[in-house]
Amino acid sequence: MWNPAQFIISLLVSTKVETPIGVCDAITKIAPKVFILNMFDREADVWYNIPEFNLLSRNISISGFSPRYPDAHCTEDGSVCQLITGEGEINAAITMSTLVHSSIFDLSRTYFLISGISGINPKRGTTGTVTLARFAVQVALQHEIDSREIPSWFSTGYFPLGSRSPDQFPASVYGTEVFELNNDLRLLAYKLAQNVVLHDTPAAQAYRIQYPIEDPAARPPSVALCDTATADVFWTGNMLAETVENITALLTDGEAMYCTSQQEDNATLEALLRGSLSGRVDFSRIIIMRTGSNFDRPFPGRSVAEHFFSNQGGFEMALKNTYIAGVKIVQGILEGWEEEFYEGVEATNYIGDILGSLGGHLKVMHRRTAESASSLFE
Ligand SMILES: *[C@@H]1O[C@H](CO)[C@@H](O)[C@H](O)[C@H]1NC(C)=O
Ligand SMILES: *[C@@H]1O[C@H](CO)[C@@H](O)[C@H](O)[C@H]1NC(C)=O
Ligand SMILES: *[C@@H]1O[C@H](CO)[C@@H](O)[C@H](O)[C@H]1NC(C)=O
Repeated sequence: MWNPAQFIISLLVSTKVETPIGVCDAITKIAPKVFILNMFDREADVWYNIPEFNLLSRNISISGFSPRYPDAHCTEDGSVCQLITGEGEINAAITMSTLVHSSIFDLSRTYFLISGISGINPKRGTTGTVTLARFAVQVALQHEIDSREIPSWFSTGYFPLGSRSPDQFPASVYGTEVFELNNDLRLLAYKLAQNVVLHDTPAAQAYRIQYPIEDPAARPPSVALCDTATADVFWTGNMLAETVENITALLTDGEAMYCTSQQEDNATLEALLRGSLSGRVDFSRIIIMRTGSNFDRPFPGRSVAEHFFSNQGGFEMALKNTYIAGVKIVQGILEGWEEEFYEGVEATNYIGDILGSLGGHLKVMHRRTAESASSLFE
């Protein structure tokens, strides 16, 4: 039966949906409460066809996004959006910079949830473990001598920029080496996610029980608070893991606990930091959630190559767990929007980069500044 009123309503609705975004934009920008950031398609897939919300209601192409992932996706009301940056630091930086400076979105009150998989430190977690980071440390922004040619007093081929040995603080800082995020927001996210029942599989169990029984690696996955390391190189093995642990500690005066490895987060954070400096985003509204997909080093007695090329059973499980834990965080932000999240969660710790660009000082820089000031009077 033809109902003229219904027809006009459906015409209005479909016009609204199909109007080119540039025209909509003149009227209102999309102001997401949460923006989910994935790095490749499989990380995004777990957020589609879910009961909580439909991210495929609106597809928004933005020139400057990765040619492989040209669209941002949003719910009909625009309260939750999602994009895929592409993998590696270059893709992450460019996609995020494009997003931050796009006129389609108002991101000034948006919470960013990095939702991705990672390598996991067996001393901090296991495959499927969901981690929430306070620090992101860019660990490969260093000099390198191949390990077969290193001087006898070097413990690794990597040494900080402008330094003369691996244990010296970099003399030259580029600005993206360390980011510290809002720890109060992180603890709220932890509360929202900590009681979920995470996915676990027999294949992951079979692999992880080969790690020493006292290590978190050997136990079932859980939600954990620990930090992340960014490098374009997808490294593996005991020596590089120790190198990464050492540089993470060195760059943060031991404050950061190296836990997960990935290839994007410092780049994403640098784009958000610059967006924050221009008032387009709020750097205190960023959550890094990374779930363990593979161990960063073998269990004792296993060669690195055997380990790296074997199936550890963690990949599908890590993907699923980003959704299982992440959706609780998204729903918590939506449900608590009026009371808690609209105004923002005040950070009681330093937030920003290693340079203090947003004001204040990262602890390690505070100490070094104080030391160099006092040395002027010696
Ligand atoms: C958005 O794109 C996805 C594929 O990426 C498609 O399945 C979906 O139908 C699209 N939504 C709209 C509203 O066109
Ligand atoms: C890490 O630091 C410790 C303590 O300084 C040192 O003994 C070890 O050799 C370092 N490891 C690597 C791989 O650089
Ligand atoms: C990476 O980001 C983290 C967190 O923002 C920051 O602490 C770290 O210094 C960054 N590392 C590099 C090398 O940029």
